[in-house]
Amino acid sequence: MNFALAQRLQQIEPFHVMEMIKRAGEMEQAGRSVIYMCIGEPDFSPAPPVLAAAQQALQSGAAQRYTAALGLQALREAIARHYHEAFSVDVPAARIVITAGASGALLLACAALVERDAEVLMPDPSYPCNRHFISAFNGRPVLIPSGPEDRFQLSAAMVSANWREQTRGVLLASPSNPTGTTITRDQLAQTVAAVRQRGGFSVVDEIYQGLTYDYPPSTALELGEDVVVINSFSKYFNLTGWRLGWLVVPPDLLPEIEKLAQNFYICPSSMAQHAALACFTPESLAIAEQRRQEMRQRRDYLLPALRGLGFEVPVPPDGAFYVYADCSRVTADATVFCRDVLEQTGVALTPGVDFGEVGARRFVRVSYAISMAKLEEAVHRLANYLDRA
Ligand SMILES: Cc1ncc(COP(=O)(O)O)c(C=O)c1O
Repeated sequence: MNFALAQRLQQIEPFHVMEMIKRAGEMEQAGRSVIYMCIGEPDFSPAPPVLAAAQQALQSGAAQRYTAALGLQALREAIARHYHEAFSVDVPAARIVITAGASGALLLACAALVERDAEVLMPDPSYPCNRHFISAFNGRPVLIPSGPEDRFQLSAAMVSANWREQTRGVLLASPSNPTGTTITRDQLAQTVAAVRQRGGFSVVDEIYQGLTYDYPPSTALELGEDVVVINSFSKYFNLTGWRLGWLVVPPDLLPEIEKLAQNFYICPSSMAQHAALACFTPESLAIAEQRRQEMRQRRDYLLPALRGLGFEVPVPPDGAFYVYADCSRVTADATVFCRDVLEQTGVALTPGVDFGEVGARRFVRVSYAISMAKLEEAVHRLANYLDRA
């Protein structure tokens, strides 16, 4: 190429797990059986009422045109009602912006909040794209080592210890990817208060909301209208490929976000929005609940099974569909371990290196978004592998 690329690209790393997925694909092509425990995607299909609504929207032509940049009013209202009914939190539809997945919501939030050289605090480990969204807007992601004592989440003490003149806010996720741990309500309230006291923003990614197993689900929106919340139809509603999510913003931020949405992508997918209206029907919510129970059963099987195999899981995951497992008793390098496990057993795991620096060599992320039969088979293969190792 005879032209220069933007410097910011140097800050953006690829997903290391893609290397694993590529190799797994080659192995499958060569006739090997692969069990994908490396992917953050539920194995369920959309609920039948959602599929029916999509078909109806296509046939009637309702999905043919652009919608408003902020999304269908009816969908924004349905989400507001859902907050009221499921979480007893009143959020006006006017603060809800429909986006292209949680990814689109993160993009809008970062575009609006992150300026050049702004530092944004987040726990190490956390979702890899978060730091790259900050870098893409010329900000600086600051990963704060966070261990089991803080449930791998940011505490108010970490905020005070790491806040500098150029710090603008925090980016949290509860439940977390990769650890599957939620922030306790108290810890979240204290962290948000510490940020607020310093005039910063709190962005809380609640994409795994609904997928919690030990406590009733809650939302950071209960902490005040200055908290920016990210959510999605990808995980709880199983619409990963439909690319639909939402963002809840303080009233003053709304016109700015609207401007950005209009310019960035005009509107989120119209068909996905019409279909998503059916996510909040009693039938779809009952299906989502039944699947949550199934996820819980998988976690209850996998967690003790991994511990029995010699993995340490310092904090039992109470949400999402991941176990963040310390494999230092069985290997000195988690990435080498993941590669070898894949070659020897066909089980694909995600190495810790994707999620930060602290646990890069010690941890693997194990996804249980696969059927119980596959989970059992994976545990069996891992047991054989570790026996031989
Ligand atoms: C914490 C977190 N945030 C955001 C996303 C992006 O999700 P989507 O754009 O599919 O809604 C993911 C996907 O795995 C995630 O784990």
